[in-house]
Amino acid sequence: MADLSNMTIPRHVALILDGNGRWAKKRGLPRTMGHKEGCKTVEKTVEIAARMGIEYLTVYGFSTENWKRSAEEVGALMQLFRYYMVRLLKIASANNVRVKMIGDRRRFDQDIIDGIDRLERETKDNTGLTFVIAVNYGGRDEITRAAARMAQDCQEGKLDASQITESVMASYLDTAGMPDPDLLIRTSGEIRLSNYLLWQLAYTEIYVTDCLWPDFNQEELEKAVVQYNSRERRFGGVKA
Ligand code: IPE
Ligand code: IPE
Ligand code: MG
Repeated sequence: MADLSNMTIPRHVALILDGNGRWAKKRGLPRTMGHKEGCKTVEKTVEIAARMGIEYLTVYGFSTENWKRSAEEVGALMQLFRYYMVRLLKIASANNVRVKMIGDRRRFDQDIIDGIDRLERETKDNTGLTFVIAVNYGGRDEITRAAARMAQDCQEGKLDASQITESVMASYLDTAGMPDPDLLIRTSGEIRLSNYLLWQLAYTEIYVTDCLWPDFNQEELEKAVVQYNSRERRFGGVKA
């Protein structure tokens, strides 16, 4: 295990958990088995991140584009979602974790929407890690929904177009009130954003590992934090 005692722990870590399908394929298993294993890894990662002192962990669970997958795979993901929402309530309570979902939940079945609402409601006063799950989430979709709401507010006289600043824009996004991610981790080697947090990742440090998501563990997270500590964040300025 790496010694992180002198390291800066990123306040907000965003995760693209990719590679469940490849993990299963390598073992001659159906893709859905990879997703099942991936869910277990998400549970463990929440506990590890909470212990490490990370304040916000945002994971990409299901994108607006993932509906393109087979009905069988989408159906299996929904079932896993139902099962893990219940488990997550227990884990969140045991670890003082606040759970929040981003993305457009309206497309899900009513019981899933109710489950999401319940998870958020029952964990809202927890003061430890904020665990954010992006479901039916797409960065472009989020920005489009925000723009539509802003336009509506302008029409209704609640907002003046001349007063729209970056912080007003940010307040209309699903992530309103959250700091931008400091570190983005993507597993399974692909070097792309796949429509994740397009606004929020503007100055985030990016770390890509070949590790497949179900194999991700504390050591892998620590490697990412060590690498993050070697980066020089300039935000467009010059080194002091
Ligand atoms: C990530 O794993 C999980 C979801 C997108 C739901 P994938 O299912 O994308 O796994 P690969 O990329 O096919 O290996
Ligand atoms: C991104 O992974 C979405 C999630 C992890 C939920 P994908 O596997 O869908 O991304 P692409 O298709 O490789 O870009
Ligand atoms: Mg993938």
